[in-house]
Amino acid sequence: MKLIASVFCILFSSALLAQTDADHLIESKIDSILPLLTMEEKVAMCHAQSKFSSPGVERLGIPELWMSDGPHGVRAEINWDNWGYAGWTNDSITAFPALTCLASTFNESLSYEYGKAVGEEARYREKDVLLGPGVNIYRTPLNGRNFEYMGEDPFLASQLVVPYIKGVQENGVAACVKHYVLNNQEKWRDHINVKVSDRALHEIYLPAFKVAVEDGGVWSIMGAYNQYDGQHCCHNEVLLNKILKEDWKFDGVVVTDWGGAHDSKEAALYGLDIEMGTGTNGLSYSLKNAYENYYLAGPFKELLRNKEVPESVLDDKVRRILRLMYRTNLKSNKPLGSINTEAHQQTARKIAQEGIVLLKNENNFFPVKDENITIAVIGENSIRAMTKGGGSSELKPKYEISPLEGLKTRYKNANIVHALGYASGPPVYGRVVTPSVDTKSLQREAVEVAKSADIVLFFGGLNKNHHQDCEGGDRLEYGLPFGQVELLKEIAKVNDNIGFINISGNAIETPWLDDVKGFIQGWYIGSEAGNALADVISGDVNPSGKLPFSFPVKLSDNAAHSFGEISYPGDSIDQEYKEGILVGYRWHDTKKIKPQFAFGYGLSYTQFDLSQVKTDKSQYTEQDKIEVSFELKNTGLNNGSEVIQVYVGKPKSKVERAQKELKGYQKISVKSGTTENGNISIPVSSLKYYDESSQSWVLEKGSYLVYIGNSSDNIQAKLKVNIK
Ligand code: BGC
Repeated sequence: MKLIASVFCILFSSALLAQTDADHLIESKIDSILPLLTMEEKVAMCHAQSKFSSPGVERLGIPELWMSDGPHGVRAEINWDNWGYAGWTNDSITAFPALTCLASTFNESLSYEYGKAVGEEARYREKDVLLGPGVNIYRTPLNGRNFEYMGEDPFLASQLVVPYIKGVQENGVAACVKHYVLNNQEKWRDHINVKVSDRALHEIYLPAFKVAVEDGGVWSIMGAYNQYDGQHCCHNEVLLNKILKEDWKFDGVVVTDWGGAHDSKEAALYGLDIEMGTGTNGLSYSLKNAYENYYLAGPFKELLRNKEVPESVLDDKVRRILRLMYRTNLKSNKPLGSINTEAHQQTARKIAQEGIVLLKNENNFFPVKDENITIAVIGENSIRAMTKGGGSSELKPKYEISPLEGLKTRYKNANIVHALGYASGPPVYGRVVTPSVDTKSLQREAVEVAKSADIVLFFGGLNKNHHQDCEGGDRLEYGLPFGQVELLKEIAKVNDNIGFINISGNAIETPWLDDVKGFIQGWYIGSEAGNALADVISGDVNPSGKLPFSFPVKLSDNAAHSFGEISYPGDSIDQEYKEGILVGYRWHDTKKIKPQFAFGYGLSYTQFDLSQVKTDKSQYTEQDKIEVSFELKNTGLNNGSEVIQVYVGKPKSKVERAQKELKGYQKISVKSGTTENGNISIPVSSLKYYDESSQSWVLEKGSYLVYIGNSSDNIQAKLKVNIK
């Protein structure tokens, strides 16, 4: 054993040495390149030359840097100078599930598989930087972009972002974690000035970015559009120079969000390295050949010539860009990448299967086992392509299986009847196009179809249209849009066997929940959508997804909304995050406001029994780990997986605290009738709070409560521990 340990130590330290040697070699190569470059060549590297590339230096063989969205697949090729699609025929890809679905898997190895697969596709498409993943915290269900993020909990997002980054970067493709930071709504995103307490900033909004840098070793970061402390996040002295580059020692490249730069001197001095998308509104129009007018182009040269900005500032940016290149396009022995492989498609399907969440299952409505029945498949989302629309994360997949297709493939003997039921219009960026259909006749047709069926599967929810789950605007209502509630009520009058499958990246209001027997959260799940949904609906796969955010009963139950307009959406200039650290379930728990569905909640087709929950001791010091062990028995008839969650709270604290916070979890697969042992380690140091006056993390001594359960609102054991 000792021998193995020391061999491992030697291998590990020689790998580390090899790494530092390689790093030194890169730095010395950069040392020798920098003096060869003219000031003009260096400045050119700091800004775009097209929509998605920045220039290299042709005379020295320094390549261009190519970027692509992200994060759910590699975006189709865009024209050089405008947002139109280039119309290539070789840029179709695998569409992976949206990141909300990945978050629901609570499965880090799947996150790694996701990153690896999307990274391989990016490598194949010759992209150097993949613009994702996004880890902005889910603060309000109205945020049009929540579907691109990993939910409301910083610990969960942190656990999942690191393996995604590693998977991508193994391919010699940089991940670009976005949008740093506080871009928690799309409304007024380009200017709103967020006022947030230091505690909430450090405890809620920064952690996933911090681990992306410190543990994930991410090579690039995208600044957010909004302002923090009166300064745009893409050139923000505190966020970029102090926190990111000084405190976290980030050695990669800061890229603007497209059109996120607003001032040359600030861009030069406050941490920005590459400026993209300026001269356009970032979305719809372009000033041709505007690149010389970028803040980090002509005006930057002026500042350098006038000595208002020292050349060392420019050299630091170029050093970072060259470092990024040595990690990506200048890296020797890059893998070749691959695209649309069966393995990628299977990865997409697996993530989708594990992320789908079963939220209600009256009388075991799901799984639908009987194949000799008539199934009415109703709702626009049963046939709608969900990789279209949504903004920059839009994809051109090689194929996308709709729910209707997936069900037809799976239920060959069933009589599947279909009706649209409602219509929403095409996804058009930045505006709503009302469909020219007669809503009443769609509704009548659906009711007729439902009448004749044994069961109804209603595929509704949101979509990727403007004011739905889409970049550039927020939702206007918490309820279901497009007359779906009325439709559902009409259907319920003729058929009371309804399963509702909610296709969305956001929580929705569900006052009609009593009208349906089953409720599944189906997300946006990419190429394999229909197959994965049919897998879960049929019971071929036992659901194990858990919600990565709370579903409040009504909008005012959500923390951000309960403080009125200044908290969300702000007064158009400023916005105050008045709920502080009490985001999501932290708010529901602490204020005792019951959510409709809680963070961490999700049902299974089997039952689990949690027992023997223990901590290894009861007294701990800062260096210790609290080891929580337990037994998990599958007492039902199906094999399945359960996510055991450990939350910790500090009653009688000298500072404000959430009742409890997620500090660990374990997803365990347990065969029917068997028992597995589980163990979750919680470093005591992770119980620190951020002390605003000393600007440091402080561990409060005394007693803590450790809560163990299978959702934030189903705690099955509570243990007391003491920190000395
Ligand atoms: C989005 C970014 C995206 C960029 C490039 C922006 O509008 O906010 O997330 O990466 O466009 O498409």
